[in-house]
Order: sequence, then structure tokens, then C-alpha cells
Amino acid sequence: MDRLHIIGGSPLSGRIPVSGAKNSALKLMVACLLTDQPIEFTNMPNLADTRFLAQLLETLGVEVYWPRGSSTCHLNAAELKSTIAPYEQVRKMRASFNVLGPLVARSGHATVSLPGGCAIGARPVDLHLQALEAMGADLRVEQGYVKAAAIHGLKGAHINFSTVSVGATEHTMLAATLAKGETILENAAREPEIEDLAHCLNQMGAQITGAGTSVIRIRGVEALKGTTYPVMPDRIEAGTFAMAAAAAGGDVTLDGAPVAALGAMIAKLREAGVAVDADEAASTIRIRRNGTPLKAVSLSTQPHPGFPTDLQAQFMALMTLASGTSIIRETIFENRFMHAPELARLGADITVRGQEAVVKGVAQLTGAPVMATDLRASVSLVIAGLAAQGETVVNRIYHLDRGFERLEEKLGTCGAKIERRSGEEE
Ligand code: UD1
Repeated sequence: MDRLHIIGGSPLSGRIPVSGAKNSALKLMVACLLTDQPIEFTNMPNLADTRFLAQLLETLGVEVYWPRGSSTCHLNAAELKSTIAPYEQVRKMRASFNVLGPLVARSGHATVSLPGGCAIGARPVDLHLQALEAMGADLRVEQGYVKAAAIHGLKGAHINFSTVSVGATEHTMLAATLAKGETILENAAREPEIEDLAHCLNQMGAQITGAGTSVIRIRGVEALKGTTYPVMPDRIEAGTFAMAAAAAGGDVTLDGAPVAALGAMIAKLREAGVAVDADEAASTIRIRRNGTPLKAVSLSTQPHPGFPTDLQAQFMALMTLASGTSIIRETIFENRFMHAPELARLGADITVRGQEAVVKGVAQLTGAPVMATDLRASVSLVIAGLAAQGETVVNRIYHLDRGFERLEEKLGTCGAKIERRSGEEE
């Protein structure tokens, strides 16, 4: 099992290119199921999760041409040979569940495993299922699988989500592109990845308006066509490197950054006393901190455009070194503070009270062996390790490989002393 060895305490300096967005890529790839024509995605991130989804699509009969290391991925769902997504595949990566709606829209039926819970919370899919039912799908849950049928096709529906859900909004939008009539989604999520998906679907011939607002209208069409589409840059990866530079200190410029999508993060970094120069036209964000002390800043995670839950752990790592006390509230997932006890192993002073973490800044962190528990939590340990004195070993980094492309290489070019090693945990 791989682990990362980090010798912390030196500032970062240089430029880091931002990769394509994992959370966008996973939904864009699923869109290939809606057409019998080939689709080409550029700026595709090479990650365990995207490679994994490509395998599931292959199981369904999609031809995948995506050479190792290439950021261009060709998908061709000319003919589907299966409409079954097995438990082993959906369990490992929740976004696989999103094949359900497109398979029903394209083939009239599908059998897809329920994803089950995950480390950060229960994460039910009730909203996904309610929306598909409202569009006329006949659903049964048997032996852990959802069996869905809409023999005469899906039909447009008026859906008002009771909770803001990124996944349910995207899943319903995908399915509705081929439904008969108009679908209206109210209380839709507004994440930039939803806009990215709508742009791509519209390029394929869909008729979607309002993506990026809380009301999305989808007028169903007979068929979609192939296209070439660039995956948007990853705002979470960009935000993570911004916080790494802020924590370790130095001068780092992120190239190809989705500046407009990072407003809440940039505002919080500035409040904390970090110099941030964001240039939307040039798609760059420059982060500088040379000896300026960090100020404690409190925040609550919120659906977009609020502060993203996927950057909460990284911000907490930064706040462990701020002067004063910050209160971090997690409002999206019920169990997303697993990084707190690991950060404490480096000397952080954090008390978790339900959905709130009270972080009292300390003058210094010191390196220690720690354990990665989920994707974003693991990268918060890397950030803390870069800022800590001495050696930190982050074990179980397969979580990191799910969502960060060439992490140690990108940080290494900025002077970070970070190295991947295989073998026994330390
Ligand atoms: C997506 C992102 C994830 C991010 C999250 C919130 C991907 C692959 N993952 O996850 O990185 O942290 O958005 O920004 O894009 N919920 C229900 N019923 C449902 C669906 C969701 O109760 O049917 C709840 C969830 O348990 C959670 C909240 O709604 O508490 C938000 O979840 P959701 O926005 O759906 O997150 P994901 O799409 O799973």
C-alpha cells in the first residue's frame, strides 16, 4: 500500500497547472450513454475514479479509448450490451449510480446497485429515485439493486427537490434530456460542474436552460449526438493547492484555475490574511504568504456559491496554525470531521462538537504518521504535513489517488519535499 513521506517546514514557490475536474468528468462520462455517436473529452483527469468509471462503462458495452497518461478520452456507446451496473462497481465509486437514469432513458430499463453509505455520511439516493419515478420510471428495489423500467420512455416532470443535491440534480438532468416534454427542476444545486454538464449536453443537442441557477428547465429531444468537450478545471484541486501554499507559506501561482467558481474560498483566504491575486481573464490565482501570521476565520460549509464541503478539511488544516480560534461548521455531510483526530496527531488543537469543530490555532505543528480516511481528509493531512516541522507519513493514500492527479509531482515542482513509497504502513 502506498504512503507519502513529507518533510515539512519549507515554503512553496512556483507554478502549478490545475487538472480537469473529477466531479465534472464523472458526470460528463456518463453522458456518453445518451447517444450512439462517439464523444471525445479533453482535459480529462487521470484518476482512479475516472479510470474506474471507464471500466464500468466498458462493462455496459461502451468502447473506451483512453491511453494511459493521456488527457483525451474517447467514448463510444454505439451499442450497449448490458444495462446492469453491479454492486462491486457501484460500491467502490458512488458516482457510478448515475448510470441508472441515462440507461433507462436510452434503453427503457436498467438494474443498478444501490451505492450504500460511505465514510463521510449516509448519503442516500432517495432524491434520485423520486425524480426518476416522477418521470414515469417504474422502480423496484430488490436484493440491493434498483430495477427501473420505462418501456415507453421517460416523460417530463415538475420536480421540487426537498434538499439541494448535486448528484440528484445532475442525474435527473441527464435522464430528462431524452424524456418526452419538459422537465423543470426546482431547488436545483448550482455547482459549476452542473453548468459544465449542461454545456456539454447542449452541445450534444439537448435543450437545457437555467443550469447554475436553482431552476433548471430541460426540454426533451428525440436523440443526442456526439461532440468534443473540454472538462472544466478542478476548483477543489485549485483550492487545495491554494491552501497548501497558504499553510506552508511562499509564492505559488495556479495556472488554468476556475477563478469565478472559487469566490467563497478566495474570500476566506483573504480574511485569514493570505495575499490572493485572482485574475479571471488569465485564469490564474497567485497565493503569497511570507511570514505574515494567519488569522483565525470561522465558516460554515454551504451548497455553491457558499464555501464547499470538499474544501472544509483543507481549510481546517490551515486554521490549525492561525492565531485565535475558528469555528468550522459542516452542514452538508454528517460525519466529515475524521481528519480532526489525525490533525491532532500533528499537534493541532481541535474539539469536535457535533457538526462543529472548534480549532484553536497553535504556533507549530510537528510531523507524525497519520492515516488518510477519505479523499479530502487525506489531502488536509498533506497540507498540515507540508507546514509541520519534521517528517509526516500519510498512510492509505489510495484515497488521494481517487481525486488528485500527480499530487506529489505538482507539489514537488514547487519545492515540497514529498515522496511516494510502497510497502508496509508506518
Ligand atoms: C457531490 C460531490 C461531492 C461533494 C458533494 C457536495 C461528486 C462526484 N461528488 O456529491 O464531492 O462533497 O456533491 O457538494 O460530484 N442527499 C439526500 N438524498 C439524495 C441525495 C443527497 O439526502 O438522494 C443528501 C446527502 O446525504 C448530503 C446532501 O444531500 O447530505 C448533499 O449531497 P449531494 O449534493 O447529493 O452530494 P453528492 O452528489 O453525493
